Amino acid sequence: MGRANKVVLAYSGGVDTSVCIPYLKHQWGVEEIITLAADLGQGDELGPIQEKALRCGAIESLVENAQEDFVRNYAFPAIRANALYENRYPLSTALARPLIAKLLVSAAEKYGADAVAHGCTGKGNDQVRFDLGITALNPNLKILAPAREWGMSREETIAYGEKFGVESPVKKSSPFSIDRNLLGRSIEAGPLEDPYTEPPEEIYLMTKAIKDTPDEPEYVEIGFEGGYPVSLNGQALDPVQLITQLNEKVGNHGIGRLDMIENRVVGIKSREIYEAPALLVLIDAHRDIESLTLTGDVTQYKRGIEDTYGQLIYRGLWYSPLKEALDAFIEETQKRVTGTVRIKLFKGNAQVVGRFSENSIYAPDLATYGSDDQFDHKAAEGFIYIWGLPTRVWSQKTRG
Ligand code: ARG
Repeated sequence: MGRANKVVLAYSGGVDTSVCIPYLKHQWGVEEIITLAADLGQGDELGPIQEKALRCGAIESLVENAQEDFVRNYAFPAIRANALYENRYPLSTALARPLIAKLLVSAAEKYGADAVAHGCTGKGNDQVRFDLGITALNPNLKILAPAREWGMSREETIAYGEKFGVESPVKKSSPFSIDRNLLGRSIEAGPLEDPYTEPPEEIYLMTKAIKDTPDEPEYVEIGFEGGYPVSLNGQALDPVQLITQLNEKVGNHGIGRLDMIENRVVGIKSREIYEAPALLVLIDAHRDIESLTLTGDVTQYKRGIEDTYGQLIYRGLWYSPLKEALDAFIEETQKRVTGTVRIKLFKGNAQVVGRFSENSIYAPDLATYGSDDQFDHKAAEGFIYIWGLPTRVWSQKTRG
């Protein structure tokens, strides 16, 4: 059909993306398919995935280790923005998509491909993020999304693949749809589609059940510099190590689970279970160190920015003029956000119990209730008189 000659396909090694290879070739007439798998810490072995792509008919199979880029350039900016979608979801899956879009576009440019492809269906958020990310970075590339058009059921997809040598899944496939990376796991479908059904314990891998967590609390100290997490318990760590070690510690205390009904970009409500132990705690800690180092008006103004930032990430606008403008604002606010936050982990709760910063604008001599209080109590009266003038006038007119 001549939709494209040479395509770079985002590849996970799963059935759907594997079937995309023969489908693109035989149904859509693509001549050359290069697959690209990104290592984002999802824990799959990428060697076998690479071979599998070739067996399915790819001419080249690329694997990129993108963990460092992922944490440093996607997760950390989101932490500085305290980005949560609908006040809860820390965007652990969503943040991976603009990075994968970037890798697809640069591979397409390097190999002279005229299109990129992905295996997303037409109901999800990820198609939006891929398509918009790719378009923003290279508007000349065609985007092919065969699973959005092929209309095959799961069984039909497997059967189609088998005709072209795509092995069907060995184990009985799980009823859940799971996305995983260094930041977390997103679990949906199967029995979870009933919003009243409690998630079964076996879906969780990064967080322990409370009955299995330690009976003693554990304290962690997270160091921030310019709004970036830089250390754990006094030890400087690179971004990937920091997330990995913190996931382990926090998950061990059963912290970091979410069960929510969210509003997808395409208008559907869906029920999603998340595990994102380190990311959730880092956002809490970051917000806390900001409370010590930013003035109240900046914090309050930033809250609106944070909400918009979370929506941008969710809705696929990572590469956009609005995102860049918000980044400039956030950058300015983060200059002084340096310090340490102390957190107590215990039985499913991460509680901030202390914070310290050289840049603290907390003034003990003003805050104290002790005898060394420097606050001018008398001045409060005049302040309240003027601040309350509108109230006084209104009250006199309506009640006086
Ligand atoms: N709802 C999440 C998001 O839009 C995760 C999507 C992928 N989830 C999954 N279980 N496959 O970012």
